Amino acid sequence: MISHVDGYLEHIMAVCCDNRSGAVADYIPELTRVDPEGYGLSLCMHDGHIYSRGDAGTKFTIQSVSKPLTYAFALTRLGFAETDDKIGVEPSGEAFNQVSVDDRRRPKNPMINAGAILAASLLLPPVRDIGPGLVDTVFEEVTAFYSACAGRRLSLDVDVWHSEAATGARNRAIAYMLDSFGVIDSDPEAALDLYLRQCSLQVTTDDLAVIGATFANGGANPRTGRQVLAPEVAQRVLSVMTTCGMYDGAGDWVTSVGLPAKSGVGGGILAILPGQLGIGVYSPRLDQHGNSARGIETCRHLSTDLGLHMF
Ligand code: DON
Repeated sequence: MISHVDGYLEHIMAVCCDNRSGAVADYIPELTRVDPEGYGLSLCMHDGHIYSRGDAGTKFTIQSVSKPLTYAFALTRLGFAETDDKIGVEPSGEAFNQVSVDDRRRPKNPMINAGAILAASLLLPPVRDIGPGLVDTVFEEVTAFYSACAGRRLSLDVDVWHSEAATGARNRAIAYMLDSFGVIDSDPEAALDLYLRQCSLQVTTDDLAVIGATFANGGANPRTGRQVLAPEVAQRVLSVMTTCGMYDGAGDWVTSVGLPAKSGVGGGILAILPGQLGIGVYSPRLDQHGNSARGIETCRHLSTDLGLHMF
């Protein structure tokens, strides 16, 4: 039987599916292989119940939606003082792939590529010439952390990872630029590799919704009952997502949708109502900021219709 919520989600999707604006990301060749019409929507409530419609079971790569997770893992491992010494918490007002650093040459925040590559580097030992074997070990820990947030084991899209690695000149440049600033203590190639692998983990909108509900719930996964991260880490990550999660579209997003969120060029958006629920949306056509165009419209409707705006 279809519940009121399911019926409402179907209604929203019917309203937004005419939005065919934007284009699928093509700067990573493997990402062009997706169905541009793909559209999924999931909500995970604080009791762990999931409502999902459309292509909610379709796997896509998490891409930049990984950034809050790796930031949370770095905060958990290193603590606030050490992490804050390396990565700022100020919006950059620039595109995700700009080398936006502050006067201490720290990346301005962990939601842009520079900050995310640095966050990945913090998970690696502070030595040069780290081989792929050690990156394998750390990537397994990262995957285990993401999987605990999602409540199921996530896996790598090897083709996307290789495609990103082969065409990742921009990210390689960012890693080496940070290295030249003296802010990466680890090996820049290993940090880049770890970042590209985390971006290539596959998720569904159900996964994003559960990850969101885990953060909404002070770090306790509502489906498994496991405390995956500390409440103060969840609070910090949600704060930074609110101001920096949608890049240079962040101000427009916060005023119109009013929720902490993170987008990825795979077409996913994770949005969170603290204390209440997680939202996962998937639609791969992107706007000029690299955010899912239909996903943004969907979140606007959800926020307005259900009164989710935090302010
Ligand atoms: O760094 C990159 O190019 C990608 N792997 C991730 C970028 C991304 O998802 C930006 N988000 N909208």
